[in-house]
Amino acid sequence: MRVLVTGGAGYIGSHTVVQLVAAGHDVVVVDSFANSKPTVVPRLEALIGGPLEVHAFDLTDRDKTESLFAERQFDAVIHFAGLKAVGESVEVPLEYYQNNLDSTFALVRAMQRHGCFRLVFSSSATVYGDNAPVPYQEDYEPLSAASPYGRSKVMIEQVLRDVASAGGQWRIAVLRYFNPVGAHPSGTIGEDPQGTPNNLMPFIAQVAVGAREELYVFGDDYPTPDGTAQRDYIHVEDLAAGHVAALHRIAHQEPGLRAWNLGTGHGTSVLEMIRAFEHASGRTVPYTVVGRRAGDLAAYWADATRAHEELGWSATRTVDDMCADTWRWQSSNPEGYPD
Ligand code: UFG
Repeated sequence: MRVLVTGGAGYIGSHTVVQLVAAGHDVVVVDSFANSKPTVVPRLEALIGGPLEVHAFDLTDRDKTESLFAERQFDAVIHFAGLKAVGESVEVPLEYYQNNLDSTFALVRAMQRHGCFRLVFSSSATVYGDNAPVPYQEDYEPLSAASPYGRSKVMIEQVLRDVASAGGQWRIAVLRYFNPVGAHPSGTIGEDPQGTPNNLMPFIAQVAVGAREELYVFGDDYPTPDGTAQRDYIHVEDLAAGHVAALHRIAHQEPGLRAWNLGTGHGTSVLEMIRAFEHASGRTVPYTVVGRRAGDLAAYWADATRAHEELGWSATRTVDDMCADTWRWQSSNPEGYPD
């Protein structure tokens, strides 16, 4: 298939591009580079062993989005592009709603106009909200989220559901990610957060490499075995494989929309993650326990049964793999991608 990957220069997008090419697909990337660097492109080209077609624009530019679909025929789209920082979304909610919704509207309209009806959408476990029973199951309702970022995902899921229900040929896969971590085993591509990392794994990695002094552990008084919060960390390579599996599934499924969790089905605590990282890196990770972070839940993980049964996909990489691969990326690229 010829597959358009929006946000293909980003963390999850870039790893997925490599696996799509390896699976024999013809990949075209569109990325605004708002939260990624163009220097990822030559590294991707080295990994895929050839040139990568990249279009540098923001999907909210309707004319450019329309022109791309007018010029090129796509069999499917994987839509990663979007703003994703939970804390920032609370400060500038309009940016999040406008960017994430407008880009999806522009994309889906262009797809419809040009007869491309297969879409894989990046959603998040955050759509299960505060009250869903753990492990999270796809059929849980009502979806809700605690941040404007998360609510933009809930809204887009709803829009896509309505689009698919209106009839026609739409085949839509909604993939709900748990906590993506890790990097390509080559150590040449990985997560490169701009500024202070919001997420645990890149923060630990920067402390281990000496770029930051210590980690703040947000709370050790949760009702969990060691008191720190538990999450379902999933290796980005497993996550990328989940996209290839979903793409193959919707190539053949009946029209409609279906959601799949992409997680391992296991929770790991903050302290367990620190220890695993110390083991993988051979470095100590100094930390101080501070108060809970607003909006954080105590513990959740995926019920990963549906993806296993319907996509033939399961996560295979361990927490040790996640730490070893993150460390390889971080230690060989202590400042992330070059400017
Ligand atoms: N944590 C720390 N110190 C840090 C960073 C994180 O102790 O410096 C803790 C958090 O309190 C949490 C755990 O590590 O208990 C994981 O935090 P992350 O920020 O890495 O991940 P979250 O689970 O908070 O967020 C992730 C995604 C979001 C998504 C959310 C809900 O990053 O995009 O899951 O699914 F919205």
